[in-house]
Amino acid sequence: MSEQEAAATNEEPKIETPTENNKEVKENGTGESAEPVAEEKEAPKEMRAVVLNGFGGLKSVKILKKPEPTLNEGEVLIRVKACGLNFQDLMVRQGAIDSPPKCPFILGFECAGEIEQLGEGVEGLAVGDQVVALPEYRAWSELVAVPAKYVYKLPKDISHLDAVTITMNYTVAYILLFELAGISQGKSLLVHSVGGGVGQAIVQLAKTVPNVTTFGVCSKSKHEALKTANSPIDHLLERGSDYVSEIRKVSPDGVDIVLDCLCGEECNKGYAILKPMGKYILYGSSNVVTGETKSFFSAARSWWQVDKVSPLKLFDENRTLSGFNLRRLMYAQNGADYVQKTVQEVFKLFQDGKIKPLLDSTWALEDVAEAMQKMHDRKNVGKIILDPSLEPKPKPATPAKGKDKKKQSSEEKKDSSEEKKEEEKKEEKKEEAMTNGDSAGESESKGKENSS
Ligand SMILES: NC(=O)c1ccc[n+]([C@@H]2O[C@H](COP(=O)([O-])OP(=O)(O)OC[C@H]3O[C@@H](n4cnc5c(N)ncnc54)[C@H](OP(=O)(O)O)[C@@H]3O)[C@@H](O)[C@H]2O)c1
Repeated sequence: MSEQEAAATNEEPKIETPTENNKEVKENGTGESAEPVAEEKEAPKEMRAVVLNGFGGLKSVKILKKPEPTLNEGEVLIRVKACGLNFQDLMVRQGAIDSPPKCPFILGFECAGEIEQLGEGVEGLAVGDQVVALPEYRAWSELVAVPAKYVYKLPKDISHLDAVTITMNYTVAYILLFELAGISQGKSLLVHSVGGGVGQAIVQLAKTVPNVTTFGVCSKSKHEALKTANSPIDHLLERGSDYVSEIRKVSPDGVDIVLDCLCGEECNKGYAILKPMGKYILYGSSNVVTGETKSFFSAARSWWQVDKVSPLKLFDENRTLSGFNLRRLMYAQNGADYVQKTVQEVFKLFQDGKIKPLLDSTWALEDVAEAMQKMHDRKNVGKIILDPSLEPKPKPATPAKGKDKKKQSSEEKKDSSEEKKEEEKKEEKKEEAMTNGDSAGESESKGKENSS
């Protein structure tokens, strides 16, 4: 068993408590050092949280006891009942996003729950309100303090679970389709990772417009499940196949809209398949995720593979290129009000029965590594959710005890570090092969997936 599988399945979930040597638990959720506590002061109350101890693999993710947050002006305190796991969380864990915070910090961008306390100056929200929030990190804990501008009151008929299934994914999908792509009757659309959270949101929202044709690409293993779930994809295509030729068989002129969350070589394919007046929108870079930890090579390759297109070319070819990043819009570009309005549109579509979120699975906080592994292994069909009230899954007992156990664990360590080295060598070889234009790396990883 590989190290990452062991992390995901065998390792007992640990709730670690503060100790002298465990420096990170003395820090608050924002990663800043806390003031030394006066001896006579009452110990702060604690809560469970999913903490990233350092950028890297699944082992860097820990369930720790942290001090309950205190409120600043303009913030609300939410008792969390459900959290959304998004692909972006995998990238954050690896340190593969721009300007990440300093470790340790609490992970998560999406949670729903009940307001327990209001900070000074908060208007329009009240204690007891059921809400969903999109904070900048810190969502995966039992309690979170969030600026009110990122908190959305839930209508009565939207549960916490529904809220974290729809809010991030459908808000992104709504902006991509209705704001940026300007989708209208009769248009055609190509969507990557169509079996995932955002992918499903896109095809469902697209089908609220008459006569739209959807082409969806995803791993073959998801096709049956998507058909069974009646997902509104007109042409389901296989990841890694020559999907461009498949699309041209149905629509020789190409498509009107390409929504690309992969980047790298998919950018060029997406641009090339646009009809005149077509729109290509980049909203993710999943292709930079290869192994369990960040690969500088994958990031460089993804950047290098993208053709640089001049506005003169766009002018001649009647095509539009654009990009979208919700995180940047909300936290760095003053987009909170705009997002607030879009979230209300999404709630309305849900209440009108026009969208039906697809839930993949729900996990205890302690099982977050397993949940992340599932997404990394491309096995989720729809959204993955964390529920702080759930009991962790029972883990298989470790048979060895005492000395034998010590011996065994050091052997396991040796085995797994050898396995890891072997994996890393393979990864390097694969990357080398791909730089040289050889597709062996690709077929190797495909073979691995098929055999799993
Ligand atoms: N711009 C924004 O504001 C924004 C906001 C949210 C999400 N996004 C982007 O939207 C995409 C989907 O996000 P999501 O949260 O809904 O996740 P998701 O689609 O549920 O993510 C998991 C799926 O991604 C696909 N995938 C593609 N490349 C992968 C890789 N290198 N490793 C593992 N899986 C890979 C896999 O499906 P297949 O194998 O079937 O393709 C996997 O099942 C991501 O690229 C994300 O960054 C962007």
